[in-house]
Amino acid sequence: MAPVAAPAPSSNPMTAMTDAANSAATAMGDAAKAAGTAATQAADSATQAAADAAKAAGDATTKAADSAATATSDAAAKTADAATQTATDATKAAGAVDGEKVYKGLCFSCHDSGVAGAPKLGDKAAWAPRIATGNDALHTSSLKGKNAMPAKGGNPALSDAEVMAAVDFMVSKAK
Ligand code: HEC
Repeated sequence: MAPVAAPAPSSNPMTAMTDAANSAATAMGDAAKAAGTAATQAADSATQAAADAAKAAGDATTKAADSAATATSDAAAKTADAATQTATDATKAAGAVDGEKVYKGLCFSCHDSGVAGAPKLGDKAAWAPRIATGNDALHTSSLKGKNAMPAKGGNPALSDAEVMAAVDFMVSKAK
């Protein structure tokens, strides 16, 4: 049995192994580099996406805050309006008496057309001599009555202030 001679290596096996190892290492290095680049890019885009999302969220928050602020100031304005309205109503109810309203509710029925010789509203000639007697006299005759003019125009439920306010309104129309 002749010993089988080991085939002569075509090249130094150690060199071949080293070459193989070297190129493997190079390949791995390349792969690692590529992987690193890819990872960096992925991280970059992730960062960008996160930043975009944060910005969008921020915008949304700002908008929500804006509209909340707008809504709040609208509500405040409405509340102020309502308060003004309430104050106005209260002033009216508290009774600055509206002479024109009293006139239009009763006195007009004789004084618009001159029933029974009533001096007409705005008829300066008819009112001039009466106005000349003074406000007190006119107030008194409308409160107590005068000839065909009934006391308080015929409605005792009217307050003195309401009747006098109506007189003042009529007088103001005859000046
Ligand atoms: C039923 C009809 C009638 C009604 C309603 C009436 N009046 Fe007269 N009024 C007269 C007549 C008529 C005279 C004229 C009296 C006269 O001078 O003889 C008169 C006169 C007056 C005068 C003038 C008084 C004067 O001294 O010259 C005043 C002021 C007056 N009325 C106010 C009022 C007021 C205010 C009301 C409503 C609250 C009212 N009247 C409702 C019929 C009316």
